Amino acid sequence: MTDPFTVDVLVTEADRRRAVEEDVRSGLSTRPRSIPPVWFYDEVGSLLFDRITRLPEYYLTRAERAILEAHSADIAGASGAETLVEIGSGTSEKTRLLLDAMAARGSLRHIVLVDISEQVLRVAAGELEQRYRVPVHAVIGDLRRDLVRLPRPGRQLWAFLGSTIGNFEPAARAALLSQFRQAMGADDALLLGTDLRKDVDRLLAAYDDSEGVTARFNLNVLEVLDTTLGADFDPRRFEHRAVWNAANSWIEMRLRSTSEQQVKIPALDMVIELEEGEEILTEISTKFDRSSLPGELAGSGLEVGSSWTDPAGDFLLTLARPGPSALR
Ligand code: SAH
Ligand code: AVI
Repeated sequence: MTDPFTVDVLVTEADRRRAVEEDVRSGLSTRPRSIPPVWFYDEVGSLLFDRITRLPEYYLTRAERAILEAHSADIAGASGAETLVEIGSGTSEKTRLLLDAMAARGSLRHIVLVDISEQVLRVAAGELEQRYRVPVHAVIGDLRRDLVRLPRPGRQLWAFLGSTIGNFEPAARAALLSQFRQAMGADDALLLGTDLRKDVDRLLAAYDDSEGVTARFNLNVLEVLDTTLGADFDPRRFEHRAVWNAANSWIEMRLRSTSEQQVKIPALDMVIELEEGEEILTEISTKFDRSSLPGELAGSGLEVGSSWTDPAGDFLLTLARPGPSALR
């Protein structure tokens, strides 16, 4: 049976494997060792992330949904868009609030979803096609390099939700925002979700929940490396750690080796010697300051129109447009 939506494969299995190889070779051969968070999201990882979004400690998704419930009509109206382009779309669950608002205005014509995680993307694309009866493009792609290759029907609202932008270090973040700017047309708009700085205990609980779901999400990246590269990481010999890095205003997720051990990665012809207590950095999750975002966006050629927080002031949604080209 063919899909009722269009699927564009910009990252094939071979591309994915090559990219994992490159990332792991460079990330694990230098200190501090690291693995980029994009590789969390195989099918198991995407399901675990979905569970995280429902944990009592993980306030981010609920806060962003509260903003969308209150302001989707304003956002749809201000953007004037007929196409919703969602980057790192996952289940696109909250996105339905935006799509409902666009549909209610009679402006929704097209949906483009971009994610590296194929299974979750296909399910979301099928559900959205059923619900809105407009053409849905599911793009299996890497947002770090594929933004310029997306289908671009009509005036667009680009949504980059969930504070996924916070998973990039400042230089990579600026580069990514500039790529958004370059890929967007003059009349398009970007809706950016960012988590805000807050009490450190709440932040730590959000990244080290009492049920241990975040720990499983973090450890699952080792299974991804075992499956993809034939490595012999034993997740039972690592533990999850969440650490607040105050100087950089971000949470770090790390995997700590609980003993001295050797890990073989045959696909890379690598053997890694880990000391007891040695840590691998798997994610940063930046917590933003509301007042510094307009400047940061301007540095990448984007001009803030409006921004909204949830009632508790935990999370921020910003609607921005391509700004004066002199700033680019
Ligand atoms: N936007 C959703 C999901 C956030 S989780 C929300 O707000 O809840 C981050 C999502 O981005 C996952 O679905 C993951 O598969 C995707 N992702 C992470 N890195 C990516 C990359 N480099 N390219 C494409 N998708 C990526
Ligand atoms: C997708 N990203 C914004 C999540 C975050 O909060 O940084 C991923 C996550 N990591 C641990 N829990 C959730």
